[in-house]
Amino acid sequence: MQPRRLDQIFSRYGYGSRSEAKHWLRQGRITVKGKVAKDADDKADPLDILIDGKPIEAPDGLLVLFHKPAGYVCSHDTREGANIYDLLPPQWLQRNPPVTSIGRLDKDTTGVLLLTDIGEIVQRWTSPKHKVSKVYDVTVEGVLKPELVNLFAAGTLQLEDEDKPCLPAKLEILSPNTARLELIEGKYHQVKRMFASQGNPVTNLHRSHFGDYTVSDLPEGQWRTVAQLAL
Ligand code: URA
Repeated sequence: MQPRRLDQIFSRYGYGSRSEAKHWLRQGRITVKGKVAKDADDKADPLDILIDGKPIEAPDGLLVLFHKPAGYVCSHDTREGANIYDLLPPQWLQRNPPVTSIGRLDKDTTGVLLLTDIGEIVQRWTSPKHKVSKVYDVTVEGVLKPELVNLFAAGTLQLEDEDKPCLPAKLEILSPNTARLELIEGKYHQVKRMFASQGNPVTNLHRSHFGDYTVSDLPEGQWRTVAQLAL
């Protein structure tokens, strides 16, 4: 990787501020190619650095698959109550830029959430132009009418306060009150608003897929770092 100043690397990857880097250097906790480093403005390849004897975590950027549990908001604002970042390593929030979710799930929604500190991924994977598929398992009040399949597929469903109708979405009705819905966009509370607009308020929502990523064997509240798949 491109050599950068040691204090910049220290703050980029969430170890602390650039002035804290000087302190760590004085304590001999940072080595470059096995030698104790001294100067904050010395440049090094992040791959050659050990901090407290450990390599830098994810020097090319983090991509994380998280199984979001119910009861947590996807927000950096601590005033909004329990948030998903409380369940993740604090160092990720101190990375610069910090790790952030790619889109959001509502507080009561469970399932696949991706997080990253790679800005281009957030832009690309949240844009409907990129057509990343998101699949939701939905439980509703009332009985789902078979006509909803064509209505959601038509790309004509206009939700209140939106400029444009929803893009075509694939609905599979699984039982009188459960369904699977595949979308390629993510308007605010979109799934809940689509069903509510047809007289079926959503009572349970789980995202099973985001592109090719699924939570499969990952327990709720757990995460793992993943490779960047072509979505
Ligand atoms: N649509 C919703 O309504 N809620 C979510 O959490 C995700 C998609």
